[in-house]
Amino acid sequence: MATPFILIVFCLITSPPSASSSSSTHHNDYITLNEGSSLSVERPDHVLISPNAIFTAGFYPVGENAYSFAIWFTEPSCSNCRTVVWMANRDAPINGRNSKLSLLKTGNLILTDAGKSVVWASNTFSLSSSSLQLYDTGNLVLITTTNRVILWQSFDAPTDTLLPLQPLNRDSLLVSSRSLTNFSSGFYKLAFDDDNVLRLVYDGPEVSSAFWPAHWLLSREAGRSSYNSSRIALLDAFGNFTSSDNFTFFSADYGVQLQRRLTLDFDGNLRLYSRENENGSWVISWQAFAQPCKIHAACGPNSVCKYVPSFGRKCSCLPGYKIKNPADWSLGCEPEILVSSVETEVIFIRLPHVEMYGYDFGYFENYTLEMCKEVCLRRYDCKGFALKYVFQNHPDNVPYCFPKLQLLNGYTTPNFRGDFYLKVPKTSPYKDWSAKELTLDCPAEATKQLERRYVKTDGNRSEKFLLGFVTAVGIVEILAMVLVWLYFIGSRQKRDATSEDYFLVATGFRRFTYSELKAATRNFSEEIGRGATGIVYKGILDDQRVAAIKRLHDASEGKAEFLAEVSTVGKLNHMNLIEMWGYCADEKHRLLVYENMEKGSLAKNLSSMELDWKKRFKIALGTAKGLAYLHEECLEWVLHCDVKPQNILLDANYEPKLSDFGLSRLLSRGHELHKSSFSMIRGTRGYMAPEWIFNLPITSKVDVYSYGVVVLEMVTGRSPSMADNGGEVEHKTLVEWVKEKKHGASARSSYWVEEITNPATGTDYDRKKLEGLIGVALKCVEESKDARPTMNQVVEMLLEIENHH
Ligand SMILES: *[C@@H]1O[C@H](CO)[C@@H](O)[C@H](O)[C@H]1NC(C)=O
Ligand SMILES: *[C@@H]1O[C@H](CO)[C@@H](O)[C@H](O)[C@H]1NC(C)=O
Ligand SMILES: *[C@@H]1O[C@H](CO)[C@@H](O)[C@H](O)[C@H]1NC(C)=O
Ligand SMILES: *[C@@H]1O[C@H](CO)[C@@H](O)[C@H](O)[C@H]1NC(C)=O
Ligand SMILES: *[C@@H]1O[C@H](CO)[C@@H](O)[C@H](O)[C@H]1NC(C)=O
Ligand SMILES: *[C@@H]1O[C@H](CO)[C@@H](O)[C@H](O)[C@H]1NC(C)=O
Repeated sequence: MATPFILIVFCLITSPPSASSSSSTHHNDYITLNEGSSLSVERPDHVLISPNAIFTAGFYPVGENAYSFAIWFTEPSCSNCRTVVWMANRDAPINGRNSKLSLLKTGNLILTDAGKSVVWASNTFSLSSSSLQLYDTGNLVLITTTNRVILWQSFDAPTDTLLPLQPLNRDSLLVSSRSLTNFSSGFYKLAFDDDNVLRLVYDGPEVSSAFWPAHWLLSREAGRSSYNSSRIALLDAFGNFTSSDNFTFFSADYGVQLQRRLTLDFDGNLRLYSRENENGSWVISWQAFAQPCKIHAACGPNSVCKYVPSFGRKCSCLPGYKIKNPADWSLGCEPEILVSSVETEVIFIRLPHVEMYGYDFGYFENYTLEMCKEVCLRRYDCKGFALKYVFQNHPDNVPYCFPKLQLLNGYTTPNFRGDFYLKVPKTSPYKDWSAKELTLDCPAEATKQLERRYVKTDGNRSEKFLLGFVTAVGIVEILAMVLVWLYFIGSRQKRDATSEDYFLVATGFRRFTYSELKAATRNFSEEIGRGATGIVYKGILDDQRVAAIKRLHDASEGKAEFLAEVSTVGKLNHMNLIEMWGYCADEKHRLLVYENMEKGSLAKNLSSMELDWKKRFKIALGTAKGLAYLHEECLEWVLHCDVKPQNILLDANYEPKLSDFGLSRLLSRGHELHKSSFSMIRGTRGYMAPEWIFNLPITSKVDVYSYGVVVLEMVTGRSPSMADNGGEVEHKTLVEWVKEKKHGASARSSYWVEEITNPATGTDYDRKKLEGLIGVALKCVEESKDARPTMNQVVEMLLEIENHH
């Protein structure tokens, strides 16, 4: 214990952490926290970096002036997009002033809040000297310096993430975060149960239930063994997860050594993520639940969960209930009005295909609806009942009645063969409620999944500057304290000024000033397109990128609404959607800035010899993928409503990108979605589905119809209204003409494909493939919207055609 008291352990001069742009020296400059020294929350450079530079440990901001001591992946380095893998004090964040992590001479590692209370400690003791080090595996280890005995390690106390080679054992468990942005302990747990089986458990404020492996299965049926009591589970670097209860899985990218993490996400799903390198984004390479609504309490009490493929879950309140906290679906919904529990007159509302799992007070076989109502009416605390067919293909297929005391684990799927009957007072305004009104909102946080990949921006540069700055002044300790503090004040003020755009900046999407765009377009001099919503000009941005800048006609809309919509549309990111780079909302001006497409619109290229059959098929497929993305993501309301060759742009490789999407919503916000006013600005004759004309409900199927017309136009080279087809005036539409040719074909000849294809495009086509494409297009232009496929189905059909020919 003769070690002299060392105040400054940070070799600030020789080892600037991560800030050093030439990172070749990373391998030498990892820092060890020695006995008697500490890391201060006020010093962004007070971090420990693993020798391989992959992991960093330090203070992580979890709220306004609230920090947790954490370990994260060094990249990406922006403060709000880090991937945190461990936290010491997730439930007791510390103050941003005067808090620190100290390694005492006794060998105890402590975290003190604002110079006073100890919020976390390793509770270790050592007579010999010790130090704290961050290993290459991401394990933070407190080790004695002489005989290298491990006193404490973060691998023994995981939060919500297991890293490769970090065992989960009888003493450890994973606890999910509260939400995507709130890192405090949530309600989901992964741990070995008393019977040695590894389980996922929902442990909520009122109830708890195990839901993985499926609760109705015996562990044996679920492939688990309860005989091995060693209780250990481990993920290796190649993606092999093995648990002593005989549960194993391999990641989808098994066999390659990648960066991986197994995280119990805030939504209760256990997911394995991997990425190729620090620049890559995390991809899910395994997850416990493909159908996230089966996760207990997915949406909290009194709500219904719906699964939307490619997005995930969506939650909605039961009729008569309202969301408790819009930022946190796990709290579910509460009654809109408190009704007296002895209300005499009640009725039942039918919620088709809705299941509420658990909390029954018995079950009743072969009960009719009336009999089940009787059961539920007899108890005042009965909240409703499920009437369902339990044995689906059984000869004794009789309905069972399950009356409920609590409305939990609600979900809906068309496959569920049963209905739920919700008990409501007769005076309830919901008695004429219909299932359609079960509007499914997106949990605000989940939309984060759609974010673009992180693009380095100015904000990041200033952070680097800050680190460099701190490094330089670190030499003069006291001065540094003052200067850093001053710098912080300065940078905070700077951020406040731009906070409105902060989110957008973080995603590489920015706001332009009107004068900037005026200059970029040389005072709107070069017009490159004109549409219902505005005129498009060519512009060259400051960074020399060529942009298409659209000036919207209707600028009457409020700024807040415009911004809200723009940020939503700006988050859409798909290779077949035109990318929005930013916008301008100065005073009355409303402009949108897009990437510019080299080859211009499909309309311009339709009769081009360049566009051979292969390219046409590619355009059909790409356009379908773009539309499928718009329709199927959470932003279901992003109907395009104006699919036509003018709005399909082609890049240098003839890869199509849809433009002008989302604007229907942008422009109709605040007005009701009245078809009359809507159709005035949306849709183009010839491409419009019959719903517009017959005033029927407008759904995503209007885009499917327009898409079908566009494909037929690409194949035949004829315009949809057939008015300009070389003199011969025909009084039918393109759709009618193609249908006629096809139906006439079987009788006369089988050459209908040859008859309708545009001879100008050449005869270099695969007939089967082309016939398949036309077949899909004809399905899309069915009169009845229900007969048309969804865009997702179109994509599947086209891929099928492509793969078989
Ligand atoms: C996180 O959630 C906990 C529990 O609901 C709450 O007490 C805390 O204030 C939240 N923290 C933040 C930063 O929102
Ligand atoms: C574990 O799984 C393997 C392969 O699925 C099976 O052959 C074996 O019998 C299982 N062991 C136990 C104890 O259930
Ligand atoms: C996966 O890991 C387990 C335990 O480490 C091991 O027994 C098993 O052989 C591994 N499987 C493969 C295919 O490597
Ligand atoms: C129990 O599981 C551990 C870890 O998977 C394994 O090494 C051990 O051989 C198993 N024991 C028995 C008796 O199967
Ligand atoms: C990550 O990106 C940077 C710059 O974009 C590049 O220099 C570096 O080589 C990349 N790293 C890897 C592992 O691909
Ligand atoms: C179900 O109940 C009805 C009368 O309520 C009876 O006629 C029928 O046989 C029962 N079915 C079965 C399978 O028990």
